[in-house]
Amino acid sequence: MARTALVTGGSRGIGEAISKALKGAGYDVAATYAGNDEKAAAFTEATGIKTYKWNVGDYEDSKAGIEQVEADLGPIDVVVANAGITRDAPFHKMTPDQWQEVIDTNLTGVFNTVHPLWPGMRDRGFGRVIVISSINGQKGQFGQVNYAATKAGDLGIIKSLAQEGAKKGITANAICPGYIATEMVMAVPEKVRESIISQIPVGRLGEPDEIARCVVFLASDDAGFINGSTITANGGQFFV
Ligand code: CAA
Repeated sequence: MARTALVTGGSRGIGEAISKALKGAGYDVAATYAGNDEKAAAFTEATGIKTYKWNVGDYEDSKAGIEQVEADLGPIDVVVANAGITRDAPFHKMTPDQWQEVIDTNLTGVFNTVHPLWPGMRDRGFGRVIVISSINGQKGQFGQVNYAATKAGDLGIIKSLAQEGAKKGITANAICPGYIATEMVMAVPEKVRESIISQIPVGRLGEPDEIARCVVFLASDDAGFINGSTITANGGQFFV
């Protein structure tokens, strides 16, 4: 029987590539989105992947949404906590709202996504938790105190979950993408983006599919001995 995968923020950007790659690998996939109904509808029409709208920053919303996905597709075996936002500003200009929005979505959103699924994964003795962190959680980034804090936090989450889930057949791992050609990176001012690309030894932005293939591997049975790890995929921009 096909396994079921949930991808948050799964209809756009890196998440879209992940949803498609997991479907291609034989999973039943559900993708969540936060706001863009039009894009989500077009995504479902193009891929046949069902989309669900909820705010990952809200626990009750997430719990209810996950219950609906499981009612439709069956128990979720693989969860990819991918949904994320940026609210970039130098620290001296960063507002408490910019801090809080990013914390709610990128960090609390991971808790809200994984926590409701965790008891079922423990009961069934299988689970794959994959969190999409970032190069900027590893190295920090000018203008991203909020974002870098959440992405570093993701690494603490997976290392702890890895220890708690190991005996129950659950692995928890992270991927740290570098700068990938998505809307999020295209929103960075052009001059800044050009300077970033000049710091990537392979001389280009990454492709969303290059991250999606890492997810498919971590979700597979072949990756069962990999737990609490981080795959760094950044074109050589930063070594951990
Ligand atoms: N390092 C050092 N100094 C920098 C700098 C940097 N990277 N970027 C800007 N500065 C300096 C400027 O030169 C300027 O200095 P002066 O006042 O002496 O001239 C000062 O900081 C203020 O700069 P700005 O006036 O440009 O500040 P701003 O408020 O307009 O915007 C910013 C600053 C929002 C941080 C903008 O530089 C920016 O967007 N940077 C990109 C941040 C980034 O990499 N975001 C990643 C988004 S993609 C993503 O997050 C996905 C992922 O996981 C990789």
